[in-house]
Amino acid sequence: MKNPLLLGIDVGFGQLKAASVDGREICMPSWTAQVHDRSMSLKETKVVNDRGAMWLVGEDAHRLAKASVPTVDSLWYETDEYRVLFRYALEHFGVRAARIVTGLPVKNIRSDHRERLMRTLKSWKSDGLDIEVARIVPQPVGSLFDICFDAHGEPVDSMDGRIGIVDIGNGTIDAVEVTDGEVSWTTNTSEPRGVSRAYEYLLSHIRNRDLPARITDMPRVFAQGSIRSGTTTISLEKPIAEAKRMVVQAVSDIVADLWTNPNSLECLILSGGGAAFLQAELMETFKKANVKIPKTPHLSNVRGYLKIGVLNG
Ligand SMILES: Nc1ncnc2c1ncn2[C@@H]1O[C@H](COP(=O)(O)OP(=O)(O)OP(=O)(O)O)[C@@H](O)[C@H]1O
Ligand SMILES: [Mg+2]
Repeated sequence: MKNPLLLGIDVGFGQLKAASVDGREICMPSWTAQVHDRSMSLKETKVVNDRGAMWLVGEDAHRLAKASVPTVDSLWYETDEYRVLFRYALEHFGVRAARIVTGLPVKNIRSDHRERLMRTLKSWKSDGLDIEVARIVPQPVGSLFDICFDAHGEPVDSMDGRIGIVDIGNGTIDAVEVTDGEVSWTTNTSEPRGVSRAYEYLLSHIRNRDLPARITDMPRVFAQGSIRSGTTTISLEKPIAEAKRMVVQAVSDIVADLWTNPNSLECLILSGGGAAFLQAELMETFKKANVKIPKTPHLSNVRGYLKIGVLNG
């Protein structure tokens, strides 16, 4: 039988990301909407069929239905939405069987979540999804492997010394120290506050001005920097700066709690979509530290997961 496709996959609270060993990648919002009537769907709209139900995912769920946004919960992987997004990723790559590397927030790795996630993924066999789990790692470790290895698993950067990694996600900020390649059991944290805080702040600012908006509009509103009210365009420069400041402060507090002074680290890796969202502000805040932000930081965990899979044969 053909070997199953090797995938790095992360069904995040903000975005679904996956990278396959043949060089394909996917990234889209983790938004879902269950729909009941296929006749509404346009030709190009992908409908995911799961356990007899029909779902729209990503931008389609936002554009065509009332999209649900994931709730931050340590048992996220046991929800229908998580499985629907995972199924979408496999269908995108054209497979029903895969060998995967994925991650969990650092604090959940220490409890029974790793075994529970593995059981959940294996239980999907009866749903037509054949998942072989190669590894489940603490999420930020993916970013470290992405920086330290190339796509063939050859080392390109050193893991020597004390390296701090902060993964700034949508619903969580996950941080851990790795010393000479060993993940620290004590210097780590997972905080339920990520970029979603900035989105919620801006949403309430807009609603206080009696303008209609949904949380799923926020990535676009942040990118535009303004919103329309009738024929006028209202600048959101100030609330956007304040919203970003709140998340940078959260990162800064976490770094101070874990390391007191990040300048004493060999390097401080900042990854996750939040590192792109806040790149300029983070570089300014940590200008004295040896900061590394991967090129496309929202994809660095899954790229690293894939490299871990390649290194493990
Ligand atoms: N290039 C970008 N520019 C601006 N914002 C971005 C960019 N990429 C991602 N984001 C935003 O950064 C946030 C975090 O993205 P990321 O994919 O790391 O979250 P996640 O992994 O799904 O969340 P969590 O780690 O909490 O599960 C998202 O809200 C996303 O909208
Ligand atoms: Mg994440």
